[in-house]
Amino acid sequence: MNISVGLTGIGSYVPDKAVTNEDLSRIVDTSNEWIVERTGIRERRIVDYYTSTSDIATKAALRALEDGNTSPEEIDMIIVATVTPDMSFPSTACIVQKSIRAVNAAAFDISVGCSGFVYGLSIGMSFIKAGVCRKVLVIGAETLSKIVDWQDRSTCILFGDGAGACILERCEEGYGILSQDLGSDGNGGNLLTLPAGGSKLPASYETVSNNLHTIKMDGREVFKFAVRVIEKTANDALEKAQLSLKDIDFFVPHQANLRIIQSAMKKLDLKQDKVYVNLDKYGNMSSASIPVALDEAYRKSMIKRGDVVLLVAFGAGLTWGSLVLKWNK
Ligand code: ACO
Repeated sequence: MNISVGLTGIGSYVPDKAVTNEDLSRIVDTSNEWIVERTGIRERRIVDYYTSTSDIATKAALRALEDGNTSPEEIDMIIVATVTPDMSFPSTACIVQKSIRAVNAAAFDISVGCSGFVYGLSIGMSFIKAGVCRKVLVIGAETLSKIVDWQDRSTCILFGDGAGACILERCEEGYGILSQDLGSDGNGGNLLTLPAGGSKLPASYETVSNNLHTIKMDGREVFKFAVRVIEKTANDALEKAQLSLKDIDFFVPHQANLRIIQSAMKKLDLKQDKVYVNLDKYGNMSSASIPVALDEAYRKSMIKRGDVVLLVAFGAGLTWGSLVLKWNK
């Protein structure tokens, strides 16, 4: 029997506090013009000191449960994609499980950089198709403001905080997730890292004084990788769904840089009205970017039942992932 799995609830949350490019130009040597021209970002949201990733993940999860008319006890599994977990362990997923009282769920985190939400959907779908789970809560949540080097103008301008969540379950045959393409290239791992705090470089006086607990990135190389991989992974996922570029009704790309999105639109021959862009408001929220964008587009009625939606992500690892959905809500 062919089991179809789709998104039946979706929700997101971004913190209230906005940091504008003007604000950043008072901290580092940059300008609104430079940031807008090179990235498309105008502002980003950040949490306060006392708010952690699980707090905003919980808010997004509760909104997804409400949208999906689902009670927490019905959730069999919680997957949190994040590079900014509350702590190494317990997992952020277990902390969310406790706060939403999803007492029947198995819970775990995945570390896939900005591709995390797409990987999470794919994992959740597989558990449902295998008959192991009925309802899986997939969350992408980040508080990148906590690991950004606020003295490094080439990275601190890019990132923001936010969370998005969805509920996966069986849906009408022919709808839901039609195909996926996931990939990684560990050879490029050094291009985007958080060097210290793990077993290789445990936290010490030296790691703190050398500022090794913040994001290090070779922006130019990551940019080139992104532009290259988006076209390939999108086409591979479409081929697996036996669809072509002209079948795409809506495109939700990872929101890292407007120039990367524009390049993808050109290569995939997609017009502006089919592409969701919100990085001007939020910057790059890593694994939260796609679910927040998807939730906004859905709530603005930009996606309707039956639409073919393409999600494409790329990020640290290096990793990438695409998913083709036939919108079932
Ligand atoms: N303001 C002013 N000047 C700046 C700034 C800034 N905020 N940042 C860098 N510059 C300067 C540089 O120092 C450099 O000066 P120099 O020529 O005197 O050395 C000049 O601008 C050009 O720097 P580039 O790095 O070549 O600038 P580029 O056009 O590549 O833009 C950027 C940099 C925005 C980081 C871009 O490379 C990018 O977006 N890369 C992709 C990053 C990305 O998507 N990362 C996330 C991946 S996903 C994940 O998992 C987190």
